[in-house]
Amino acid sequence: MSKVHVLDHPLIQHKLTYIRDKETGTKDFRELVNEVAALMAFEITRDLPLEEVQVESPVSKATAKVLSGKKLGIVPILRAGLGMVDGMIDLIPAAKVGHIGLYRDPETLMPVEYYVKLPSDIEERELIVVDPMLATGGSAIEAINSLKKRGAKQIRLMCLVAAPEGVEETQKAHPDVDIYLAALDEKLNDKGYIVPGLGDAGDRLFGTK
Ligand code: URA
Repeated sequence: MSKVHVLDHPLIQHKLTYIRDKETGTKDFRELVNEVAALMAFEITRDLPLEEVQVESPVSKATAKVLSGKKLGIVPILRAGLGMVDGMIDLIPAAKVGHIGLYRDPETLMPVEYYVKLPSDIEERELIVVDPMLATGGSAIEAINSLKKRGAKQIRLMCLVAAPEGVEETQKAHPDVDIYLAALDEKLNDKGYIVPGLGDAGDRLFGTK
């Protein structure tokens, strides 16, 4: 079974409080989401492999470390996932960014894929699927299905806030995909919102309603 990591770094938790606050406006909300995404990327990349290289400092020669060429990919689920990308690529500028667009069919309520554009070498990349909200898990499960169908082998899922229902469904569907969260909330309400959550992440990021 995959692992669930709640990244409870004090800076992440502090910023998440202001993200949740309904009085936080679009500009601050967007900045805070990017900042938390960067901090989460910092935590999620803790286990990246390193290799030794020789470098010459102004003082002496030294043996030092650089990332050993593991390729990363960031895959936001449209549209709210876009709000996390800039923060992450500030920290991991060599990562490629793929996009997956899904909408919910009003009749079946199932997610339907309408857009996919991915780096050509996804099978060699460690992919981080990003979406601020893991509610029912439907979109994340479908996005990961889509990546696996196209050859992806190493996938992690990173969300700001999750409901236990979404975590459970995602783990059932994808037991090989670890999940990284800033918070695991209480539940889903009857409208499909995470409680307490932060409202509609896409609307708050883009100022729509
Ligand atoms: N999507 C959101 O944007 N917010 C929720 O609470 C649930 C799904």
